[in-house]
Amino acid sequence: MPRDNKTPLIQRIATQAHRTFSGSDPAACGGEEEDFSQKHCELEALMTALRAADLKLAPRSGAAGSNPDAANPPVTYMHICETDAFSMGVFTLSSGASIPLHDHPSMHGMLKVLYGKVSIRCFDKLDQGASATEPPVFAPPLASRQRGSLRRARLRSVGEYSEGSGPCLLTPLRDNLHQIDALDGPAAFLDILAPPYDSDDGRDCHYYRVLSRHGDQEKETETWLLEIPQPEDFWCGGESYPGPTVSVQKRNIK
Ligand SMILES: [Fe+2]
Repeated sequence: MPRDNKTPLIQRIATQAHRTFSGSDPAACGGEEEDFSQKHCELEALMTALRAADLKLAPRSGAAGSNPDAANPPVTYMHICETDAFSMGVFTLSSGASIPLHDHPSMHGMLKVLYGKVSIRCFDKLDQGASATEPPVFAPPLASRQRGSLRRARLRSVGEYSEGSGPCLLTPLRDNLHQIDALDGPAAFLDILAPPYDSDDGRDCHYYRVLSRHGDQEKETETWLLEIPQPEDFWCGGESYPGPTVSVQKRNIK
């Protein structure tokens, strides 16, 4: 990749995200798949180099947010840009805050920590045929409507990420569900999702609770997930993005 020291890194990331996620089907086979993989690797390398200072983001400190309220949400989102192909923005988490377990239907994702430390627990949904028609014996009593929302899933990975870590990746099939917990204080990460959430196109965000067989999720690799409404103690406020302006093509290249 040619060196480009004048263009802000976040702009180069947006341009590379556009190249990676527009104009071709990431699930395609053969040459297209190879091309996608190459572009994806280049995007990953740019993301790895990103730091909070590149976005004029001042790391926060302290325990602010331990009593979240309307003026002090546990999680905030700074919108940077969105096209047909991808969305990009920064999530900040107050000390002790979590983004509950949720999915990204038919989407790719890259998450790069900018400051602080987070724990990310990722699950794969197992095939539809494994969905429960009967609740597992260890599940609490469920209304029949809830039984249809049970999904078999596999714990894929658990990791801790800080500013020196590479990005955490998700694909439509692998590590697609995740829970993100701030560790040891506030944290922030850049989030790229491709394509963006769009409830009109089958890409709505769903939240889940792990139904643990033994009360010890750490030791269970296969488990059941119950789809739940957005947890009441989680909400996301908006914040303005302080970094360099990013310009992107709004339409996909066909
Ligand atoms: Fe997510």
